[in-house]
Amino acid sequence: MTATTIDGKAFAAQVRGKVAEHVTRLKADHGITPGLAVVLVGEDPASQVYVRSKGKMTVEAGMKSVEHRLDADTSEADLLAVVDQLNNDPEIHGILVQLPLPGHLNEDLVINSINPEKDVDGFHISNVGLLGTGQKSMVPCTPLGCLMMLRAHHGSLSGMDAVVIGRSNIVGKPMAQLLLGDSCTVTIAHSRTKDLADVVQRADIVVAAVGRPEMVPGDWIKPGATVIDVGINRLDAPERGEGKTRLVGDVHYESCAEVAGAITPVPGGVGPMTIACLLANTVTACCRANGLAEPEGLTA
Ligand code: GUN
Repeated sequence: MTATTIDGKAFAAQVRGKVAEHVTRLKADHGITPGLAVVLVGEDPASQVYVRSKGKMTVEAGMKSVEHRLDADTSEADLLAVVDQLNNDPEIHGILVQLPLPGHLNEDLVINSINPEKDVDGFHISNVGLLGTGQKSMVPCTPLGCLMMLRAHHGSLSGMDAVVIGRSNIVGKPMAQLLLGDSCTVTIAHSRTKDLADVVQRADIVVAAVGRPEMVPGDWIKPGATVIDVGINRLDAPERGEGKTRLVGDVHYESCAEVAGAITPVPGGVGPMTIACLLANTVTACCRANGLAEPEGLTA
């Protein structure tokens, strides 16, 4: 079997198109422009790339984009003051504090200082609790993007066996909650799981989110299963020239694609969906804040 490629880049473009349409309607019918604020502390190069890209796509979707770039030695009190100001700004509907924060800042404290209704990352403890109890919440962007692709590919996920490899708060745990919400039988596997190969072999859906390059080989995959690769790992690629690198996922793409029914590539799979879902969450937050109907198909 050769797997169907799930084209996350094309899917993300569709999601961003829907977001932009909704933004146009919000402006025309209600005079409201959704606003997203991103807070970046320090100069982590990868975070700077993400933040630039988020800002650009926010503007392309017709929304207001605000960036707060703070020095790496910013005090917790100063950072909390920025979050507080954004919490109280009626033109800002979504707030994202880019992680990781410098070591002297308490990430949990900062994230939990965001108004949960503006927490477009879905990391606030209230949103985690709402998702875990099946209530309306803000849903973390990467798992939301994975869920959208799975639903688009399969229609209903009800009764499917799903394995999530990785138990992070950002991806693994919320992904498992979302799959459970769609009536999958869910296993969360992690570094201490015994016989991971056997666990993965039973799954109709495999979501790999461990951050270990190409750790899932094709012979772990049940024939016809759907493989969602959340990993983005940069490896040296001397064969491409001196100093060159290449991106790989957490699954070994070539061997998995021979067995799977469908698979997301890296790059061009889950990655583009994350920012698209951030924009979707911002529109959702804006609609909720204004008591308006939420866009269909853009939330869990
Ligand atoms: N750093 C890497 N991914 C993310 C994300 O999805 N949200 C935030 N806030 N920081 C990140």
